[in-house]
Amino acid sequence: MRMLRFPLLLAALLPLASHAAVDVHSYGNPDEVQVKHVALDLDVDFDRKVLDGTATLTVERKDATADLVVDTRALDVHKTEISVDGDWLEVPYVLGEEDDDLGTPLTVLLSSQDAPESEQVRIHYTTSPQASGLQWLTPEQTASGEPFLFSQAQPIEARSFVPLQDSPGVRVTYEAVLRTPENLLATMSADMEIDAERDGEYAFNMPQAIPPYLIAIAVGKLEFEAMSKRTGVYAEPYIVENAAEEFSGTEKMMEVTEALYGPYRWDRYDLMILPPSFPFGGMENPRLSFITPTVVAGDKSLVALIAHELAHSWSGNLVTNATWRDFWLNEGFTTYLTYRIMEEVYGERRARMEHALGYQDLQGDLADFEPHESVLNIELGAETHPDDVFSNIPYEKGALFLTELEDKVGRKAFDEFLRNYFDHFAFQSITTQQFEDYLKKNLVARFPKKLDWDRIQAWIHEPGLPDGHPVPQSDAFSKIDQVRENWLEDEVDAGDIETDEWSVHEWLYFLNTLPDTLAGERMRELDIAFDLTNTKNAEIAHSWLMNVVRNDYRPAFDRLENYLVSIGRRKLIQPLYRALMESGKEKHVQFAKRVYKEARPGYHPMAQNTMDGIVGKPE
Ligand code: BES
Ligand code: ZN
Repeated sequence: MRMLRFPLLLAALLPLASHAAVDVHSYGNPDEVQVKHVALDLDVDFDRKVLDGTATLTVERKDATADLVVDTRALDVHKTEISVDGDWLEVPYVLGEEDDDLGTPLTVLLSSQDAPESEQVRIHYTTSPQASGLQWLTPEQTASGEPFLFSQAQPIEARSFVPLQDSPGVRVTYEAVLRTPENLLATMSADMEIDAERDGEYAFNMPQAIPPYLIAIAVGKLEFEAMSKRTGVYAEPYIVENAAEEFSGTEKMMEVTEALYGPYRWDRYDLMILPPSFPFGGMENPRLSFITPTVVAGDKSLVALIAHELAHSWSGNLVTNATWRDFWLNEGFTTYLTYRIMEEVYGERRARMEHALGYQDLQGDLADFEPHESVLNIELGAETHPDDVFSNIPYEKGALFLTELEDKVGRKAFDEFLRNYFDHFAFQSITTQQFEDYLKKNLVARFPKKLDWDRIQAWIHEPGLPDGHPVPQSDAFSKIDQVRENWLEDEVDAGDIETDEWSVHEWLYFLNTLPDTLAGERMRELDIAFDLTNTKNAEIAHSWLMNVVRNDYRPAFDRLENYLVSIGRRKLIQPLYRALMESGKEKHVQFAKRVYKEARPGYHPMAQNTMDGIVGKPE
């Protein structure tokens, strides 16, 4: 079911306007019939673990004779209709062959009715209980003891809960009505009533055109706590106050970002704190970022994640990658913006540490991934799920590229360039090529002596990093290097290391740079001095547990088990499972399999899928 490539000549003859980017990860036919608006009317059924109802699509019929093709994945389609003179007329549909990653194309036979002016298509459907973009938590799996539902549509899972043209290049506005059990609150990435009466029926409206991967739903026993006039937190009761305190700096972050890159265009910015099984750190759903509870650390040490999701309100949600080959435009720009926001709010010292940690992650992935996977404008065919090439590379290599541009032309000129870029492409989805054209015209032409086009091409189209790239450095970390060496050389006891002033970042750097092998007594010495096995900070725990696995430090294995069972954030658990499986120790392999079997039912489908690939699917 692969799309045919246009012969080159034919493509060159096409008028520019219809020359939209080809997205190999969608079956949709927006060049013929394009979905413009989605109206959902859905029952949220926790007993059956399904969404059930209708999606009414408003379409633009560019070719009046063409049928509509949308993406679906494991949807049970009951009926399709079109509106003719105010009446709904049933029309036939065809479900194509199912692809494991891409799902099933649904063709609605508009041409079966002689109604070329009809622009309303209604699809009656039910989602699967295993929908890849939804996680249904039972009352036993939540802190509140009430059920919880949340979605995760990026990159290509929106189709598992809404039938639409699931390509980031096909932007839609949307509205929705959701019906839930009466004591629960439903939220979406849209305009909604704060503190809506909990009556089991909720209405939403997203008037700005967004890519489908930003459609999001969360339903649970949720409370709301305001942080400022336009920011607040939704969460289960146990954590709502702590989260509002932890992220109280969100308004400040918005203000500094607006000062740098132009107005925030989405009205409100709220945070949704999800259960710990959320497979990501954060997801930039517009107006309502989804956030892992593992960053509610008690000391604001992990709030860079909020800066990151907020920054997507410019890079990603306003100016969007047109296809998943252009993903670095979302994440590289956002990572660069994150460092800038952190510098503005928390100062240069902290921003430098965070950039240096990001650079470490980049080094790790450049070593682990194939060269062709380290190209920013990555080659991706329909046979590769975008998630399979997910790494730090688009994030940190992208940010490093922009850092180099900033270094070369100066901060003032680069800030101005970015501000204009967001304005110029606002509410559009663009390809890497479009960015390159814009960069050439608006920055390279202005600084021909400072910027070299061939070098820029190497950054975007070649593997690895070009010689002479910037290297993020931190004086604070140089001190940690010294301390670590002194301790390793026995010049100082762990108990005598002055750590009172260490931030979480210094701890992470210290733990990430310990030698691959440490004797059991040295691990014990650290643990006794700093009680690392019992740390409450989920990221410090992750870095410590990586050392625990590498050195087979038994006293921490209960914590490791507990950690893997209670957290589903992929970035934190995947490296631990991998380290266990690749340790060459049979008892570690057995441990991983036993713990995974216990943990898997609590993980999100995306995390299950990843861990199945590492540990194997338990029978
Ligand atoms: N948009 C991403 C999450 C994502 C990417 C989901 C690709 C599905 C496919 C989000 O903004 C993100 O990057 N989250 C990071 C946080 C971070 C601070 C780098 C995460 O979840 O770890
Ligand atoms: Zn991101």
